[in-house]
Parts: sequence; structure tokens; C-alpha cells
Amino acid sequence: MTVENRNSTGRPLSLYHLLDPQVLADPYPLYRRLRDEDPVHWDPYLHAWIVTRYRDVLTVLQRFSADRTPTPEQLSTMGLARMAPIAQVMVKQMLFLDPPTHTRIRGLAAKAFTPQRVEILRGRIREITGRLLDMVEPDGRMDVIADLAAPLPSIVTAEMLGVPERDHEQLKGWSQDFAEMLGNFQHNPDRIPHVLKSVQDMTSYFSEQVRAQERHPRDGLINAFIRAEIDGDRLSEEEIVANTIITMVGGQETTTNLIGNGLMTLLRQPEQLRKLRDDPGLIPSAVEELLRYESPSQHTARLARDDVELGGKSIRRRQAVIAVMGAANRDPERFPDPDRLDLERKDNRHLAFGWASHFCFGAPLARIEGQIAFETMLDRLPNLTLASETLAWRENLGLRGLKALPVRFGPGDAIKAEAVTMENARTSGWYQEPVEP
Ligand code: HEM
Repeated sequence: MTVENRNSTGRPLSLYHLLDPQVLADPYPLYRRLRDEDPVHWDPYLHAWIVTRYRDVLTVLQRFSADRTPTPEQLSTMGLARMAPIAQVMVKQMLFLDPPTHTRIRGLAAKAFTPQRVEILRGRIREITGRLLDMVEPDGRMDVIADLAAPLPSIVTAEMLGVPERDHEQLKGWSQDFAEMLGNFQHNPDRIPHVLKSVQDMTSYFSEQVRAQERHPRDGLINAFIRAEIDGDRLSEEEIVANTIITMVGGQETTTNLIGNGLMTLLRQPEQLRKLRDDPGLIPSAVEELLRYESPSQHTARLARDDVELGGKSIRRRQAVIAVMGAANRDPERFPDPDRLDLERKDNRHLAFGWASHFCFGAPLARIEGQIAFETMLDRLPNLTLASETLAWRENLGLRGLKALPVRFGPGDAIKAEAVTMENARTSGWYQEPVEP
């Protein structure tokens, strides 16, 4: 390790520091160091190149290989042989495929997930958002994650896939388990049996759905996958199940995090929140800026197809590369004043949805969900404020999101009255601050 790669505390430069909760809470100083000091950095801890400049991340997303699922032999070498059944599903998912297989699957999937299908969901998204807010509005407080940001995408996902809405909590649980595999560098061995069981359960659930819908079609993506056809080519049952799973997972954690991270950012900058309330026409551009500023999906991985030069470094064939979209989206070479939240930012071609052939399949749906969630919260919840200054981030290093986001809202007087009541409770001795043991 070279001296230049250590900071004043002697800590070597590594993306591994995301494991430190303080760094996870604010990874941007680490990203800045990586971008300024060594934008294409060999990370000996992760055994991968870390790429943080916008232009280099673009190159990686355009030219490097997405085919990165470990083979059963590689899993055995890593001591993870038990994960082979999960890898078997992943090798059929579009996210982990290169052309020509990726082009084939994505083409068939695009036939199934059309702009018209997304438009049909718009009205339902409004209705579901309204229903979820009806349940918390009288309380004057809510946990934005548990009460809106988590259930909204899972109910919408059930609807989009064409499975019963009552199954949405099950879909959410499976999606969280699978997301553990996607966002982290290391896998907790204690969690493997649980994640394996979860993958088996969701595979059987979706296989049954495919068979049932072959006989009794329902409106939704599973049925559209069954029927999608290009020149006589169709998706096999295994391909439908694998790509239904990645669409279900892709659509949930990230959208939850767009709503949670976005609202947290606005609550921490009340003048921006006020600006958006005063001019709801800004919502589409605000959602793009929130996606750039606190990207729900912070990084993704690729492999070098051949020996290649990037940013003056020689990358060898099949070496792993981590493209950090969260860092590229704050690159001052691409975005003027990148650490400033500018809800009216022009020329905002952020990489929060990736780029090129793997560009997010569900971006139009995610944008509509985000826009409706912000529009409805701002319309219905006056005087929104954070109810806690300390916020805990999920331990997922790639899918950036909060565990909870407690807020208060209501007419100004009600909020003041509650503060007074709390003060009374303290002075009268009824309430005491918790004491450290
Ligand atoms: C704010 C919400 C979302 C964010 C930030 C997001 C982010 C991303 C990113 C960064 C990628 C590219 C990953 C890579 O290149 O390795 C991606 C791909 C993908 N996303 Fe999303 N996504 C979101 C919502 C959704 C939704 C709602 C769906 C489903 C309807 C979805 C389904 C997918 C799928 C299937 C892929 C793989 C595409 C391919 O490999 O060709 N995503 N997403």
C-alpha cells in the first residue's frame, strides 16, 4: 500500500470504509477523496477497481461486462458453495447478462413492459398513496419508511406483476432478502440459509403463478412475459421466473429509498422544501435532483472484458470493477457545485438509473411513483418536520436507504401545542430523558 493512499489518520483509501456507520451516513467525503486522489483505484480489500469519476463510470457502464455471477467452482473457492442455487437464478436475470442473451431477454421484456402499462398504473399509484396517507393523517406523525415508502412500491409491484395485492408483504420480505445479495460486498454466512430459503420460496411462488396464469391470465407483467414473442422466440419458464424476481426486487428497495432519502434531504433543507411546496410544477425536476443528490443505488459491478486502460491504470481481463454512481453524481467536472441541492438543476443527466444497455428497466415507473409520493405528501401534510435528528441507515452498502424516517406534520398550532405538552411533561417530571447506564 502506498503512503499516498493513506489519510492523516493512517487509514488506507478503500470503499470498505462504508462498513463504518459514520461513513455510511455520509459517504461523500470518502467519494471525494477517491475521485480527487485516485479516481481509478485498486482496492486491495475488495480486490476490485473502484471508479468514481463521471466520465470513467460512463465508460465502465458502456463497455465492461455485466456477466459477473460466480460459477459454482468460484463459489466453492470462496467457501460459498451453498449459494449456488441463488447463482443459478441470477445467471438468467437480465442484470447479469451480456449480449446477445441480454439483448434477447431485454427485448422480450420491453415488449411486456410498455409505456401504456406504466400509464395504467399512474391512477392506481395515486389511489394507493392516498389510502396509505389516510391511515396516518389523523395522527399528525408517521414513519415515512414503514407507512409509505416501503408499502407503496410493494403494493404497486404486486399490481404491476399481476399477483394478489394481499401478497405484497411477502414480496417485500423476499425483495429485502435478495437485495442483501445485490448491495453488499460480503455476505454474512449466518444469513445464507435464510436467503436460500427465501429464493427457493419465491421461485416456487412465481413458477406457480406462471402455470396458473397460462390457464387463467391476469393483467400484469407475468402474463405479458408469458405472451411476449419476437419472431417466434419466447421466454422459458425459468427465464420468466428469474426476470420477474429481478423486476420485483429492482422495483422495491430502490423506490423506497428514493422516497425516504429524498424526503430526508428536503427536511434537512427546509428552504428547498418550501420552494417545492410553493411551486409543485418543480416536482419532476426535483425528483431528478434528489436521485442525483442521494442516489438509491450507489454502485454496481462489472468485469473487464479484455486488458484495458482506464484513467491511466491498466485493468486486466476479468478483474472486477465497481462503478460508484453515487460518486459520479457528485463529480464537479460534470455537475457544477455538485454538493448543492438545486431542484431546478438543468442538464441533470445523473447516473442514478445507470446508463447504456442496462439502464434501469423500471425508470419510468420509479419516476411516477416518486413524483406522486412527493406531490401527495406536500399537498396533504402541512408543516412537515423531522421528529428525530438521529437517523439510522440500513447496513446495505449499495442500496442506500434509511431504516426509519419519523416525521411530524399538521396545522402549525397543533405542532406547537404538542411541543408545549412535551415541555410540560418534562418540567412536571412526568417525562424524564433516558439516562445512559
Ligand atoms: C428509484 C428507483 C430505482 C432506481 C434508483 C433504480 C436503479 C437501477 C440501476 C442503477 C440499474 C442498473 C444497474 C446496472 O447497470 O448494474 C437498474 C437496472 C434495473 N432496474 Fe432499476 N431502479 C429503480 C426502480 C426500478 C423499478 C421500479 C423497476 C421495476 C419495474 C426496476 C427494475 C430494474 C431492472 C429489471 C433492471 C435491470 C435492467 C437490465 O439489466 O437490463 N428498477 N435500476
